[in-house]
Parts: sequence; structure tokens; C-alpha cells
Amino acid sequence: MELRSYTQHYHIIIEQQFDTLKEWIDEHKHSSYFVLVDSNTAIHCLPKLLERFDEMDFEILEMEAGESSKSLDTAQTLWHQLMEKGADRDSLLINLGGGVVCDMGGFVASTFKRGIDFIHIPTSLLAMVDAAIGGKTGVNFEQYKNQIGTFEHAKLVYVFPPFLETLPVRHLKNGYAEVIKHAVLDRPKHLDEIRKVNWNDWRSFQDIITISIIFKTKVIQSDFEESGSRKQLNFGHTIGHAIESLSLKRDKEPILHGEAIAIGMVIETFLSKKLAKLDGEDAKIIISEILNHFEIYNLKPDTIPNILEYIVHDKKVKEGVPYFALLDQIGEADWNIKVSEDNIREVLDQYIANYCS
Ligand SMILES: NC(=O)c1ccc[n+]([C@@H]2O[C@H](COP(=O)([O-])OP(=O)(O)OC[C@H]3O[C@@H](n4cnc5c(N)ncnc54)[C@H](O)[C@@H]3O)[C@@H](O)[C@H]2O)c1
Ligand SMILES: [Zn+2]
Repeated sequence: MELRSYTQHYHIIIEQQFDTLKEWIDEHKHSSYFVLVDSNTAIHCLPKLLERFDEMDFEILEMEAGESSKSLDTAQTLWHQLMEKGADRDSLLINLGGGVVCDMGGFVASTFKRGIDFIHIPTSLLAMVDAAIGGKTGVNFEQYKNQIGTFEHAKLVYVFPPFLETLPVRHLKNGYAEVIKHAVLDRPKHLDEIRKVNWNDWRSFQDIITISIIFKTKVIQSDFEESGSRKQLNFGHTIGHAIESLSLKRDKEPILHGEAIAIGMVIETFLSKKLAKLDGEDAKIIISEILNHFEIYNLKPDTIPNILEYIVHDKKVKEGVPYFALLDQIGEADWNIKVSEDNIREVLDQYIANYCS
């Protein structure tokens, strides 16, 4: 399945060769071309790109791989390198990497000289279906995620699924959590489609990526500024972010975002049954899909106060009350549900009683 979507905001291409990317670059002339990579995509992805563009004069910018590089310090280094290498307002920045490179590169480009063009070539599953889509850029600041950033669309999102060949399975699964989220928000048929996943064959992800992107694009197009329906994409993320923060604080090897979101979705499915209209049958389907692929994150009752504390500091809280995006059924969400501390306690207790030792 190939996708070429040309709309006002979105210009997304998924394909197996670099032909359309070549055409796009020829058509959209820029004064100079920069490619941002991290220390892994420099090894695994950049050579594949350069091989097809051997006649192009690309300047390579490299950052350390990993979330801790998504900082203002790195942005400053990159702005400096752009200046030093003569970038001007008509330069193009090509972000070749996972969500960290896309968020970082989008931020650097959208602020450099009040904004230069950038394109995303996402190389992780998470970036292909999520981070590269939707126009959010940014860096972490003072230990909090994505605090400084911009809303700015890439001129092109170019998805080349063969890059997944070198992505470690743990990172494939990380992206798959967002794939499950899109499927349960979209419709039952989408869930059937994603069950075709085979962790040992990147080819099994091609159609999954396309339908996941189509769904996210549809949601964002109807609500770019996140004042309404885009909030449904927060499903699993209020509790998921709290678990992610807890793990970052207490675990030597913290779990990944997707792993935390998977557990967040299990607990928010309990909440959906309690406070929204989700029935037991749909809840069972969602939870078993998640637990087929993700491990339980062991929580003890004494961590509940910490989790509640993280939730109160979440950006989805207004005047001290957390708002959740919950499911009424597979394919239908409600994104403005007020949830009390007691409700959260109850579903955390339920999770601990059912799954934790
Ligand atoms: N802007 C948004 O809307 C949005 C949405 C979701 C997530 N994000 C952000 O995305 C980031 C997470 O993205 P991620 O999971 O892609 O993390 P990441 O960019 O750190 O990539 C994960 C790891 O895989 C490596 N890698 C990437 N592609 C590879 C490939 N093809 N072969 C081998 N190794 C490869 C990276 O170097 C890194 O070590 C977070 O910072 C998160 O905040 C942003
Ligand atoms: Zn997420």
C-alpha cells in the first residue's frame, strides 16, 4: 500500500524507493541542504540515503542518540553549526531519525532565522506513525518533556519503511503501542489489520504504518490546535506519562515511552469501563491486544501517591482536575472526562490486584 497525500497541511509519502523524494527535492529548489542524524541513524540510515543522492551536496549534522540529547544545548549547537556552514533562509533541513531527531530538527529549523523549511524522514516506527506527523516540534527543559517548542509542519514527511530493518525490536514495540492506540480509537477493522504484525519482518509493518498515519492525519486535520478532537490522541497518556516519570525516577533502566503508554492504556481501559460507556467485551479485546505484546509494569500500592502527584502536574490538568480521553467503544472516544482522585486510585488498585505481584 502506498500513500501520497497532498493536502493543505500534509504532504506525506510512503514508498519503497527514494524516487518521489528525489522528485520533490528537484522541484523544490533550496539554496543548501542539511541532513540531521543521530549517532545510530548516521550508521544505519544515512548511507542508504546518500547512496541514492550521490550527486547532492548534503551537509551532515550529527547529534548523540537518545532522549537526553533533546535539549536546548543540542539546539544551540545545531544553530551554531547551521550558521557556521552558511545556512540561509532558503536552506532545507532534512531530519533523518526517530522522534528525537524529528522533534529536535523541527524545532531547530522552525526557529532558525525565524523559520527555514524542513522535511522529516522518520526512521523508527514511533516516528513514522506519530512523532513525524502533526507538526509538533520541541525539546525538553528542566527535566520536563517537550516544554519548549513550536507548532510547525514539515514541508514533507517521507516514510521509507525499509529503514525499520535495523531498528531494534524493543523500539519497534515502542512504536507499536501508538499503533494500538490509533487502532482502538479508529475502528475494529483497524485492530484486525494490526494483528498481522510479525516482529521479525519489517515488511509486515507496511500496511499498518499507512493506516495508522491515515488515522492520525484525519484527527489532526480536524483539530490542528488541539482544542477538541485531537485530545483523543491522549488516550493512555495521562496515566502512561505518570508511569513513565515514575520509572525514570526509580528504575536503573527506565521503561520506554511506548511501554509506559501500553500500561497506561490498560488502566485507562478500566477507567473507560467505569466512567465512559465502554463495555466488558471491548475492554477485554483492548487489554488482551496490549498484553499480548507488552509486559506488566509492576506497581506497588505505595507508589499510588507518586502516580497521583505526577498526574496533577500533567499538562492535561485544568484547575487541579485531570481531564482524560476515554473510550465509549472501540472507535469512539470522549476527550473531556473529569476524573477524581478516588477514581484513579480505584483503577490503580484494580491493576495492582489483577496483575502485580
Ligand atoms: N512531536 C510529536 O508529536 C511526538 C509524538 C510522539 C513522540 N514524540 C517524541 O519522540 C521521541 C521518541 O521517538 P523514538 O521512539 O523514535 O526515539 P528515538 O528517536 O530516540 O529513537 C529510538 C532509538 O532508535 C534509534 N534508531 C532510530 N531509527 C533507527 C533505525 N532505522 N535503525 C536503527 N536504529 C534506529 C535511535 O538512534 C534511538 O537510539 C520522544 O522524544 C517523544 O517525545 C513526539
Ligand atoms: Zn505517545
